[in-house]
Amino acid sequence: MVINKIMLLKQNKKIYPNILILDSGVGGLSIFSEVIKILPNANYIYVFDNEAFPYGEKSRIFIIDRVVNIVYAIYKMYTLNIIIIACNTASILTLSILRRYFLCPIIGVVPAIKLATKLTRSGMIGLLATTVTLQSNYIQNLICKFATCYNIIPISAPELVILAEAKLHGEKISLLMIEQILLLWLKTVNILNIDTIILGCTHFPLLREELQMILPNHIQLIDSHKAIAQQVLYLVKQSINYSNYSIIPIPNKTYYLAKNDKISSLIPHLNKCGFYHIQHLLL
Ligand code: DGL
Repeated sequence: MVINKIMLLKQNKKIYPNILILDSGVGGLSIFSEVIKILPNANYIYVFDNEAFPYGEKSRIFIIDRVVNIVYAIYKMYTLNIIIIACNTASILTLSILRRYFLCPIIGVVPAIKLATKLTRSGMIGLLATTVTLQSNYIQNLICKFATCYNIIPISAPELVILAEAKLHGEKISLLMIEQILLLWLKTVNILNIDTIILGCTHFPLLREELQMILPNHIQLIDSHKAIAQQVLYLVKQSINYSNYSIIPIPNKTYYLAKNDKISSLIPHLNKCGFYHIQHLLL
């Protein structure tokens, strides 16, 4: 079997890694859309934990327990080749734990602090993220490692997560709503001469256009999504274990944790992303 797959590769035939992408909600779709651009031939399994959404205000233990259980539930159903924790909040808390228990490569997303220090001119950087992310030791360590000579201004905006979620559920959201959420911060951004804002939550790139419209023109919004997509591609190319890869494509699948009437309003967007198989996941 292994030899067959290597021969297939040599003949340039396709193989399809099974890739799990997990978030509390729709934020992970912003990562998915970058990954699928450079890796169209993969079997994607997108899981969103709408039962415990939002993660950003929950306790550390709760999030760890939740994420480990969800990954385990999917792990039992599929031969996973790559796991992407497409949520800053969950990555910061669970990556090291997950890597102890699950053997396949696990990629997380964390705020692009290092990149921001390379791009800022004023040295004033805003970090827009959830409360859990901003209060984590992980972020403090990242700042100590890469940004001691810069000012990182924390901007906590849990309401923005809800708004991004609403947008993809087809609800009308307005610039005024975002302005109201960021009212205090908009003043701070100007007073402190912030020129770079890190989108430290995967939900926020879904509001990039709106944010760009209400922020001063010179402010650049950055995230690590493209870098993550490259990392996934690199892992697939480097894999020494192609024997685990599927040689047939399977339809992309979505799993949700809570059955509720909000699911139906998300279906058009999931379909647009190429997810037609949408199922309930029981833990
Ligand atoms: N999308 C998640 C993140 O990147 C968090 C959203 C939430 O609070 O659930 O942090």
